[in-house]
Amino acid sequence: PYPAYDVLRAHAPIFQAIDGRWFVTTHALTNRLLRDSTLRVADAGDYDGFWPDWRENRGVASIVQSMLQNNAPDHTRVRRAAAATFTARRVAALRDVIAEQSAELIKAMPERTDFVSAFAYPLPIAVICALLGVPDADRPWFRQRAADLTVVLEPISTEEEMGRADVAGRELEDYFIGLVAERRREPREDLTSALAGDSGLTGAELLANLVLLLVAGFETTTNLLGTGLRILLDRPELADRLRAAPELAPAFVEEILRYDSPVQLTSRYTSVPLDLGDGRRLAGGASLNLLLGSANRDPERYPDPHRFDPDRPNIQPVSFGGGAHYCLGAPLARLEAQVAFPLLLSMLPRLALDGPPVLRDRLVLRGYASLPVSTG
Ligand code: HEM
Repeated sequence: PYPAYDVLRAHAPIFQAIDGRWFVTTHALTNRLLRDSTLRVADAGDYDGFWPDWRENRGVASIVQSMLQNNAPDHTRVRRAAAATFTARRVAALRDVIAEQSAELIKAMPERTDFVSAFAYPLPIAVICALLGVPDADRPWFRQRAADLTVVLEPISTEEEMGRADVAGRELEDYFIGLVAERRREPREDLTSALAGDSGLTGAELLANLVLLLVAGFETTTNLLGTGLRILLDRPELADRLRAAPELAPAFVEEILRYDSPVQLTSRYTSVPLDLGDGRRLAGGASLNLLLGSANRDPERYPDPHRFDPDRPNIQPVSFGGGAHYCLGAPLARLEAQVAFPLLLSMLPRLALDGPPVLRDRLVLRGYASLPVSTG
């Protein structure tokens, strides 16, 4: 999409599509609008208006009833409760899990393999299962359901995909009903126990947000690991540098997030008239798409934006959004990538591409469906 973003940014940085939706391509406006508290996300009330039966698709319902699609005051309350349980301490405690799981997956990698199925898929799911307290034996089951449900984050999906998302949503809700009941009887150290305690969430909110944590942190992190590895394998001098200086991992990960944003766009509605800053004014109720992937490559903010350069000062990409809905899992996603890349490079010094990578055919979530590598 990057050449197309460049053309749009140069000729129509804020444009209206034929269907009436607005698209924002610049960093300055994207960054400002993410933090504008007069903008809202589409919530259950909006869905009632344009799709009265949405509750019947349990995949869609789980996401629409989660904080991702709540507005204030519900969003404020639910987000606060979730943030109080998903603490920096809890994330830091997962470092060892991440390192152990990564090492195990690396050791199990055959000489020629698909990096996505051998590493980028299983690592995030293992970490989220550890976070939520899902038993190891249920991980493959979870991975399949999460993959089936992820299509609801896309604006366009086939009927068959929506059917699979519905089934996955139902099965995950049933699973979490069981897990929540168990943890209420016998609380453990996991996030499910913490959220199922006296967090003040309704039953529907609790289930929806447990499902959200699974889905929001799964394919997004898989994509970060896949695109990041591709970048490193394409540029051996950078891989050598990171291998020799693993303390550079945070800067590398920020630049990977900027260079190839795992989430390419997010949507908002205006609730009151909105000044675009170029003399134009949108009425209340206008639909806006913020192109995060384009904002991250805006030359006004990032000189020479198509060059991968971990030495850029203040990278701060908008890949995790910003403002009230800023990604709750950002510290965890960052930690996973910061631990995984140096470990991959040091344990597999001859890791190389072994065939053409295939991008997933998606609009919002950008990443590889397969990335053939050789380790020997
Ligand atoms: C929200 C990206 C990983 C949980 C978001 C948003 C973005 C994003 C862009 C904001 C959407 C919006 O403003 O409309 C990413 C990326 C990830 C990642 C790129 C990995 C590289 C994770 C992980 C978790 C997680 C690992 C949890 C385990 C959430 C939650 C929200 C969210 C709960 C909703 C926050 C709210 O609405 O208040 N993420 N995410 N994400 N993310 Fe992530």
